[in-house]
Amino acid sequence: MANIDWDSLGFDAYRTRTVVFSHYKDGKWSPAQSTETFSFTFDPFAQVFHYAISCFEGLKAFRQKDGGAVIFRPGENAARMARTAGYLGLPVPDADMFVKMCEECIRGNLEFLPPYGHKASLYLRPLLMGMHPQMQLVPYPEAVFAVMCAPAGSYYGEHLKSFSAVIPGNYDRAAPKGSGSYKIGANYASTFKPYKTAHDQGYTELLYLNSGTREFVDEFGSSNFFGIRGNSYITPLSDSVLPSITNKTLQEVAADFGMTVEKRPVPVDELDTFEEAGACGTAVVITPMSHIDMKPVLEEETVSRSFRFVPDGTVGPVCTKLYNRITGIQFGEVEDIHGWCHHVDL
Ligand SMILES: Cc1ncc(COP(=O)(O)O)c(C=O)c1O
Repeated sequence: MANIDWDSLGFDAYRTRTVVFSHYKDGKWSPAQSTETFSFTFDPFAQVFHYAISCFEGLKAFRQKDGGAVIFRPGENAARMARTAGYLGLPVPDADMFVKMCEECIRGNLEFLPPYGHKASLYLRPLLMGMHPQMQLVPYPEAVFAVMCAPAGSYYGEHLKSFSAVIPGNYDRAAPKGSGSYKIGANYASTFKPYKTAHDQGYTELLYLNSGTREFVDEFGSSNFFGIRGNSYITPLSDSVLPSITNKTLQEVAADFGMTVEKRPVPVDELDTFEEAGACGTAVVITPMSHIDMKPVLEEETVSRSFRFVPDGTVGPVCTKLYNRITGIQFGEVEDIHGWCHHVDL
């Protein structure tokens, strides 16, 4: 077991033991191999460096209460990567290969899989990159599919807490009919600078509106949006939003709790009516929001509107209930009635 303080882990790149990878060339994937040096050698003309031909996934493995190891819903991530690879014109690792290489990555880095009881997990990061050296803007069937991992903490410690977000009036995340619903690396490049500005101002998240008319909520820079009003779980329906597996899970759990699930366009004005709101994604399941400010220009001081959900730092009962149910299933403390946990032979 690695000498790690499992209770103070964050969510960071981490040098573990090995990366599992396969090379697609001449119409087939090579047998999966593991790096011994934790490094790759690439042609400097490879598509990935010049034209950002890359996509990735994020999913988690957990050591459960009974000592077993599971990956949470890996088939969903495999399907999403296949859809994104198709969009980029890259060869598609099929679901079986995707899941097997995730399992291989866990086995090759077993000392980094956090033991049960620390609310920590092993974050798996599958990455698919166009490798062909070329200048032309055309797809070419050569790629590397690699799975790496990093131990990740719960972020919250013992208790959930809430954070704030800002709607940046002078930034868009995705063009109408653009790439917003695909998990391509390039979608994230444009968020780095506004994220830094938002963090410097004390906001944790950026909430983007639909770039066509700016009337509706799209999603956060790294997670989906949901709002709670009465017994309803409400989340945006938009072509520019990444189909979050956590959001899909939350919708199913909300329905299990007897809530009404509404997936439809969410007008900005409706933010005023939510009793709770949050961001959802694999990294932390739910980031509850205390309030969301709207700024015409992110870099300037003016806040044109502010939407308040709960007092700073506190968390509403519905977010707490949804979070506890999902993390309970992941750690094997709550019955997995939907069969979301994929068991891994170690
Ligand atoms: C832009 C964006 N939206 C939503 C999500 C949440 O997706 P998932 O729940 O599958 O992690 C992510 C990734 O975590 C993301 O990067």
